[in-house]
Amino acid sequence: MIEREFAETLKQVILELTGNEFGQPENYRLISKHVRTLMARRQLVSFESLLEAVDSDQDLFDEFISCITIHHTSWFRESKQFLALEKQARAHKGVFEVLCAACSTGEEAYSIGLTLERVRLEKPGFDYRILALDIDQKSLAKAATNHFDRSGLATIPLAHRRSLEIGSDSFSVNPAIRSRLKFQRYNLLAPLVIRSEYHAIFMRHLLIYLSPERQRKVLVQTIERLKPEARLYLGTSEARDYADLGIRNLSGSVFCRVEPEKRKKLLIVEDSLIIQKLLAAIFKEASFDLLFASSLAEADQTIAHEKIDALSLDIYLPDGLG
Ligand SMILES: C[S@@+](CC[C@H](N)C(=O)[O-])C[C@H]1O[C@@H](n2cnc3c(N)ncnc32)[C@H](O)[C@@H]1O
Repeated sequence: MIEREFAETLKQVILELTGNEFGQPENYRLISKHVRTLMARRQLVSFESLLEAVDSDQDLFDEFISCITIHHTSWFRESKQFLALEKQARAHKGVFEVLCAACSTGEEAYSIGLTLERVRLEKPGFDYRILALDIDQKSLAKAATNHFDRSGLATIPLAHRRSLEIGSDSFSVNPAIRSRLKFQRYNLLAPLVIRSEYHAIFMRHLLIYLSPERQRKVLVQTIERLKPEARLYLGTSEARDYADLGIRNLSGSVFCRVEPEKRKKLLIVEDSLIIQKLLAAIFKEASFDLLFASSLAEADQTIAHEKIDALSLDIYLPDGLG
């Protein structure tokens, strides 16, 4: 298969399996290098034979998914968001539920854990649970080991060090945090079957790999899983105006829900059908929900049962003056 054909097929396969697009050219270079290394290791001579083998071998499938996704992550990445999370958690009572979507090898989920553990230790009655999802089984397996290279310590704020168990060449996060964290494989582009709602959802550096159409799809189903007072944390490069999806950027790519404004109700009291229609056309433009009455008695009845915000009242009505 020539390079252009290989690139095109790879692109289609990635799109189908993960919904991701290459984005930057270096992503293609990295992914194609990983795929070729996998083929060489498994002694598969062509990309077609790899795709065939992937179909019937779960381990190879997992390795392939790992090769075609980008897992770059770090501890306390975009650190200001963790200050916002801490503030949000300190204002919360009871169990704080977090979804960490596209968690990669776990550094993000454990950073959330370290932040919330500090609140738990200082605030009686506060507790938390974190569900961390990713499509890549290999990344999740690494995350679940809770075993990290010491180089990661450099970006963990000193305030959290007491919750770490540091060895000579690696470290782990203390068991109290680990026990509140669950890792699960999940394709976020599939219909979201998770039924819980969350106080905070982290979904950072995933949207950048998706087409605008897929971004919206993932966002719509993620927003549905936000509790009314919840926050959605996106990557700072992923902040856009998402007002039409019902969220608003508070600051630094931390979003909150905005409830759609309730439409106002207008009662039109008018005995002429023609004038009713005329007024209806005018007030519909002004986004009112309309109710009608042809007499004062009918108007009284409607007002007794409905909360009316505005009234358009004719003067000469069959049963009296308006
Ligand atoms: C660049 S990492 C971001 C990690 C972390 N959220 C962060 O900001 O540091 C992107 C992650 O998204 C995962 N991913 C890509 N497509 C996905 C999908 N359709 N469903 C779930 N996870 C996906 C990849 O496996 C990868 O681990």
